[in-house]
Amino acid sequence: MAKLPILINPEPALQTKSESVGEVNSAVRKQMQDMLETMYDAPGIGLAANQVNVLNRVLVMDLADTAKGEDKSPICMANPEIIWESDNLSSWNEGCLSLPEHYAEVKRPAIVRVKYLDENNDLQEGEFEGLASHCVQHEIDHLNGIVFTDHLSRLKRNIILKKVAKIKKGMDIL
Ligand code: NI
Repeated sequence: MAKLPILINPEPALQTKSESVGEVNSAVRKQMQDMLETMYDAPGIGLAANQVNVLNRVLVMDLADTAKGEDKSPICMANPEIIWESDNLSSWNEGCLSLPEHYAEVKRPAIVRVKYLDENNDLQEGEFEGLASHCVQHEIDHLNGIVFTDHLSRLKRNIILKKVAKIKKGMDIL
């Protein structure tokens, strides 16, 4: 496994809609493992392929609270597709590894059903709510070139983007 560098917004890859994978073969499986390692190391609960500069529709997530003694429970998805969403909305204070140190309340459908290929290329369907629902929708947004600040008012968005730009500038100097 290999840890990959995470892109900080703005970057062309983060603003690009990714292409579907044909099948989950050994190369995609390795990519999923590398992305999990990168996500655990960050640490984060979700990561989309374009955040590590790969433009295919792959995401990983793990919502287990290992600090509370829960076992890791990774979920790997290729070509995820929301096939149903609830009418009622939920609000969550979201963050993003590509927009470090900043959080904002984002409203999304409270429950979604998602169809995807797992790490064995098997078709799966899962229902997600609460944090998991926000996480999977946030990562699918990434695959469509959307970051969470795109859901905010222009005022809130600009405040966060300016602060992240400063952080990014500081990282480039190092
Ligand atoms: Ni993100």
